[in-house]
Amino acid sequence: MYKIAVIPGDGIGKEVMEAALHILGALDVEFDYTFAEAGDEYEAVSGIALPQETIDIVKNSQACLFGAAGESAADVIVKLRQELDLYVNLRPVKSYPGTKSLYDDLDFVIVRENTEGLYIGIEKETEEGATALNVVTRKASERICRFAFEYAKKTGRSKVTAVHKANVLKKTDGLFKETFYKVAEDFSDIETDDRYVDAAAMFFITNPYMFDVIVTTNLFGDILSDEGAGLVGGLGLIPSANIGENHGLFEPVHGSAPRHAGKGTANPSAMILSAVLMLDYIEEHDAARTVENALIEVLSESKVVTRDLGGSASTMEMAREVRSKIEDK
Ligand code: NAI
Ligand code: MG
Repeated sequence: MYKIAVIPGDGIGKEVMEAALHILGALDVEFDYTFAEAGDEYEAVSGIALPQETIDIVKNSQACLFGAAGESAADVIVKLRQELDLYVNLRPVKSYPGTKSLYDDLDFVIVRENTEGLYIGIEKETEEGATALNVVTRKASERICRFAFEYAKKTGRSKVTAVHKANVLKKTDGLFKETFYKVAEDFSDIETDDRYVDAAAMFFITNPYMFDVIVTTNLFGDILSDEGAGLVGGLGLIPSANIGENHGLFEPVHGSAPRHAGKGTANPSAMILSAVLMLDYIEEHDAARTVENALIEVLSESKVVTRDLGGSASTMEMAREVRSKIEDK
């Protein structure tokens, strides 16, 4: 029995969460769900977007499934990442059949450092304009690189590529690159290389098959992971994981999509694949493959799929179709 915190949040977050939980219900794995509040709607009635009670529920769970928040997303998800020290943002770039992926059989992951870099937003106005602080520490670089290698080892991947701009940012990105190669010494069976971020951005388009696991700093990871999303076709499909020493939070990359909310038209795939990442995180790998393969079947048939995938099914119709594939087995 796994204790799972469930935060449906706002808009389509609630709809895709219902869909994902419906599918998890078909597995031979037992979950003890605790539902928790966060987001715009909760803020409207309580005055606060992320109550302490929700933070406590997530802290007391083995993992958290998160739908989406609306305008309060920064207060909710960014705060949760800090509170739980979720220093890894993991974004698979994987193509699925029946989607608008630009390449077939693409399968790599981006491991983004989630706590520092330029992203910490320490900015200052100066006489001439403004400056921003880029913070790179040995500790954060070491733990994100170690995570990337451990992840590669655990998931049977053979290569880790560091992405940086150490030729210009000699001290900060230089430290990141140096730390990467130091950590690599502990993983001699895994191939390593490194790329400048501008070149990496180009190779995403021209030869993305060269990547297996990418590890990079916060801002570059933010940009490259959206470029990766563009490669494999659409926000309705892209899951993510936020992982720390003791916690994991799994969420679709999309937001609450207010224009779609309440219509039952949202694609549940990103949330379903986020649940797959959660299943892998709690080491229920068979269950993870069962759900992923059932979704792949539904996507390749292209019959009971949502509008963004060229079909006319509702969110729950698609979810029921995925569940029926699991039950047929
Ligand atoms: P969004 O991801 O909510 O939606 C952008 C567009 O992508 C939608 O209009 C829709 O056409 C498409 N889309 C997204 N998810 C889809 C799905 N599951 N199925 C089909 N189509 C889908 O991003 P937007 O419009 O920039 O933000 C809306 C709200 O969501 C804002 O209030 C924003 O702050 C919040 N947001 C929350 C996030 C989070 O909770 N982690 C992340 C991003 C945005
Ligand atoms: Mg982003």
